Amino acid sequence: MSTIIFTQPSGTTDAITVEEGTSLMRAAVTNGVEGIVGECGGQAMCATCHVYVRPEFAAALPEIADDEEEMLECTTAERTERSRLGCQIPATPELDGMVVDVPSDQV
Ligand code: FES
Repeated sequence: MSTIIFTQPSGTTDAITVEEGTSLMRAAVTNGVEGIVGECGGQAMCATCHVYVRPEFAAALPEIADDEEEMLECTTAERTERSRLGCQIPATPELDGMVVDVPSDQV
């Protein structure tokens, strides 16, 4: 289990316990985290699970695959060097305590 902290643009946070292998998107949607939609169900086809990962955790993330790269060009909120799709990040012990910022807009 890893704890992932979702921070809203307003500054409020949700600390979610995520089972290993479960994606950040699935965990956020299951726990009602505002601003994570997951329209396509995790197929890297909607970009409504866009998150900004804090830099200190960047090295522990999986590489960005081609389909994720393509969808990151379609995010509603600005893409930055911290942008990832939550559905493409499975929880691992290395991500325990990771903070991700939820964008102001997803759709
Ligand atoms: S849930 Fe659709 S791209 Fe992540």
